[in-house]
This record gives sequence, C-alpha cells and structure tokens, in this order.
Amino acid sequence: MIYFDNAATSWPKPPAVLEAMAHFLNETGANPGRAAHRRAIASGRIVYEAREAVATLFNAPDPLRVVFGPNVTEALNLALAGYLRAGDHVITSSMEHNSVMRPLRALEQAGVKLTVVPCSPAGFLDPAGVEAAIRPNTIMVALNHASNVTGSILPVAEVGRICRQRDLLLLVDAAQPGGAYPVDVQADRIDLLAFTGHKALCGPMGTGGLIVGDRVDVARLRPLKRGGTGSNSELEEQPDFLPDMCESGTPNAVGLAGLAAGVQWVLEQGVAAIRAHEVELTRRLIGGLQSIPGVTVYGGLDPERQTATVSFNVAGKAPSEVGLRLDDEYGIMCRVGLHCAPAAHKTIGTFPDGTVRFGLSTFNTLDEVDAAVQAVAKLAQEVN
Ligand SMILES: Cc1ncc(COP(=O)(O)O)c(C=O)c1O
Repeated sequence: MIYFDNAATSWPKPPAVLEAMAHFLNETGANPGRAAHRRAIASGRIVYEAREAVATLFNAPDPLRVVFGPNVTEALNLALAGYLRAGDHVITSSMEHNSVMRPLRALEQAGVKLTVVPCSPAGFLDPAGVEAAIRPNTIMVALNHASNVTGSILPVAEVGRICRQRDLLLLVDAAQPGGAYPVDVQADRIDLLAFTGHKALCGPMGTGGLIVGDRVDVARLRPLKRGGTGSNSELEEQPDFLPDMCESGTPNAVGLAGLAAGVQWVLEQGVAAIRAHEVELTRRLIGGLQSIPGVTVYGGLDPERQTATVSFNVAGKAPSEVGLRLDDEYGIMCRVGLHCAPAAHKTIGTFPDGTVRFGLSTFNTLDEVDAAVQAVAKLAQEVN
C-alpha cells in the first residue's frame, strides 16, 4: 500500500496527534472559553497552544491574531468576502484552487473587480504581471503559495514586496506549502495567511484558519458568522476584537488539540529537514517518470521550485483509468482529474481531463517512489 494523496490530505499522522486527540476526549472534554472550571480552563489552554504553535511555525508575532476555523476554504472566504467591497479591485493568479477562484467569481458578481494574471504553462507567476495589473482601486492580491496541481511555488515574497510598496494587502493560500516549505509571514510580507490543518501541518480534518497581520483593518473585516464567543456575553453585538469576532460557536477543540500536536511535530522535525527529504523524493519521482516513454510530467520539472506534488499523464490512457489501475493493481493511492483547480489545468494545458497527481509527504520513501515509477512504466508500456 502506497499513499500518494497527501496533497489532498496527509496520512499517516504522527502518533502524537492521535494521542493528543484521545487525551482531549478522555481527560479534558470541556468547552474552551465558556466556563471557569478546571476542564474548561484546560481546554482553553489547549486551543491557545494550537494558536501559539501555528504562530511559531509561520513566524506570526501575535497568537491572538490566529483565527481558527474548519479549513483553509473558510479562511479564504473570510479574507475575501469579509474584506472586499463592491468597487474594490483584487488581483489573483491563474494557478488558484477553486477555494480562491469561486469566492472571487461570486464577489465579481457583487461588483468587486477582478484581474486574473496568467501564469506560465509550467505554472509559474511573473511578479511583473502582478505589478502591471495594479489599478488605483486595487486593495488586495490573493495568491496561491504553491499549486496543488504542479507543486509550482509562486513568488510570494516578491509579490509581498510589491504589495508593501503599493500599499496593498497580500492574502496567501498556504494550503500546500504550510509545514512542508518555509512560510514566514514577516519575511514574506504576508498580511493574511490562510492555512489548513490536515495536510502538511499533520493535524486532523476540520482544522484551519487565517492569520491576520497588523496592516489589516480589523474594523473592516466582516465575520462570516456571528454568535456566542464566550466573551463580552453582556452584549448582543459581536465582539470587535480578534480572534473572538471571527470565531463564533464551539470550536473544534479536539481537532485543535490534534493540530497543536501536528504542528509541534513539524517544528520538532524542522521544516528544513522535511523539505530536504521531500525534494529528494520529488527529484527521484520526476526523473523516474520522465524516463518512461509516453509519460508527460507537468510543471517546472525542478524539485527546488516546487513542492512534493507531481502531475503527469500517460499517453493513450485517461487519468481516471491510470488512477483506478494504480489503486487496484498496485495499491497506489493518488488523485486524478482537475483537483478543484480548473484554472490551473487550463494554464498547463490539461483541461478538461486533468492529470494523475502524486502528492508525496515526509512519510514517503524512495522505495515507494521507485515502486510507483515501475507501476506507471508497466501501464505506459501497454500503449507506448
Ligand atoms: C491550494 C489549495 N487551496 C485550498 C484547498 C482547500 O483545502 P480545504 O479543503 O482544507 O479547505 C486545497 C486543498 O485541496 C488546496 O490544495
């Protein structure tokens, strides 16, 4: 059994994640921030530890500006729908996931102006294209840090520099690189960082959030929902401070216990060490796939310029057939199709059929990569 679907969600999780979640359910269990008894306090402490761990990983100065939610999709919706108004102009790239593109297309219907800067066929973005798209009413650039289709790393730090010079906010979708590639909100000048807990942060599904930088006008940020926060309970109006204003309702505290343990595990391993291993795996995978007649590998074909996500196709076979047979005949689990990113597939020329995607993680091995390359070679031999 080989699990190569880590770009969708990571598996396995470090044992400490399972232990932290079991411990929370067995020993803590109370609602964080909602009472003064010992278990509620312990629960609140665990949620705060998760904020601290995430803030440390992404070098965010204030853990109280880490807003938790169920996933990066909600975080992106909060940043986009919560901040943009009719008449504002926002710039994005053609390598976005639908969790950026769909909210933006909906906002466009509501009067927000949108420019999608085209990326190269290998999935890279020229920062000059972003700069050229800036208008007097531009207020935000929303950018995928690393493509979930090709792994291509977008020039976030360069765009961050442009955003500071032109007084724009930079929103980054860090779903893919978070935990597997260095992301530093201060060095990269990221104002809004959306992350998801269940990929390389090694946490469970149902966790994610938005880091809100100090250049963001919090008074302008409209929460997606309003309700009980455990704070300012005398008021019928929503609190106006972070993170409470954007965290109504009982949080996924058991999930956040797991997320804290997952991020702690990443910090203990070190992002640099995780990245080095994944670069080695990616180099072997790209080289192996490229040596097979009839196989096309997409992206920059340079492991240093991408995450450990590799898209390819086998001439004469639909991606869906390749994926099914890799699972049925070789026990290799991957993802095929459009990966919720039709714009990215249009950019690299693989729309509408998509690609076969191998999403590797720190838990994969070179032996697994070699076995997968051999399996793809056997399938390719049938037609090439
Ligand atoms: C680049 C990117 N953005 C957003 C998402 C959405 O993640 P989630 O489903 O955790 O909200 C994903 C996950 O597939 C992704 O790869």
